[in-house]
Amino acid sequence: MSITNFRSADAVSDKATAGAQTVTPKVTFQTLQEKKQAGRPITALTAYDYATARLVDEAGVDLTLVGDSLAMVVMGYDSTLPVTMEEMLHHTRAVRRAVKHAIMVADMPFGSYHVSASEGVANAARFVKEAGAEAVKVEGGAARCELVQRLTEAEIPVVCHLGLTPQAIHRMGGYKVQGKTLAAAEELARDARMLEAAGASMIVLEGMPREVASIITSQLHIPTIGIGAGPDCDGQILVFHDLVNLSFSRPAKFVRQYGDAAALFRNAIEGYVHDVEERSFPDDAESYHVSREVTDALKAPEAGESLRASSKAHLVRKA
Ligand code: KIV
Repeated sequence: MSITNFRSADAVSDKATAGAQTVTPKVTFQTLQEKKQAGRPITALTAYDYATARLVDEAGVDLTLVGDSLAMVVMGYDSTLPVTMEEMLHHTRAVRRAVKHAIMVADMPFGSYHVSASEGVANAARFVKEAGAEAVKVEGGAARCELVQRLTEAEIPVVCHLGLTPQAIHRMGGYKVQGKTLAAAEELARDARMLEAAGASMIVLEGMPREVASIITSQLHIPTIGIGAGPDCDGQILVFHDLVNLSFSRPAKFVRQYGDAAALFRNAIEGYVHDVEERSFPDDAESYHVSREVTDALKAPEAGESLRASSKAHLVRKA
């Protein structure tokens, strides 16, 4: 196959505007690595559908994660555990259609990589092949090293996830900050170094003391992305629904809400219900029209007859 007519991997011109062409560079793991080295913060956000993924991408976010948090914020489960491979693939495809600039990572759901590394690689390949993911994310420490190595050998970049790992909710006994003792902090740092050595492209650090995340970040060559891990990580990620107040739950300490989509949507929906009930929606300008002649002809008594006749003939033909 010829590679001469491939679109440049370095640039997408979907943001091109007539006259002044703005070319948005496509983000790769190399870009993120360079950002770490230059001390420039990496931005990351979750997305689960076409519309929100477009907004995230058009805002210039570096990394879009189709997180398994969709189990909670989109599907209404009380943990991330029930979401399936098929559901994750479905949402990843929708996000893929929207994301042109960011690097797109798909979260591997609980159970899809826990039985064996071979099954993990096979499931990860589905995200790349069937849904267009550029990398997958897996939760867990040193126990994931074999999987990370196998994925790397299979040319599938891996993002790891350490600290408060929601798929381990039952082992952790709830969503609790991890790495608070010296031993626990040392274990997290050791796990991070082992995952990097196994081939991880990046590590998400969730729910751990700022000091621990800071030390891990300084010890690694690959970037870290924090969520509830303080400001010293190489970048930050939040769940989209938390950012815009659509989670229907008390925000965690680390969440900063940048908008109130719940209020915006509620207001719009209530306005719509009000207008329909009042018969003020739709109005005449929101309706289609025929010409005055057709209107007059329709009003004539013979028109009523001919309409009745033609609808009767239509029904006979259908039978
Ligand atoms: O599923 C998710 O949204 C995540 C992020 C919180 C990192 O794993």
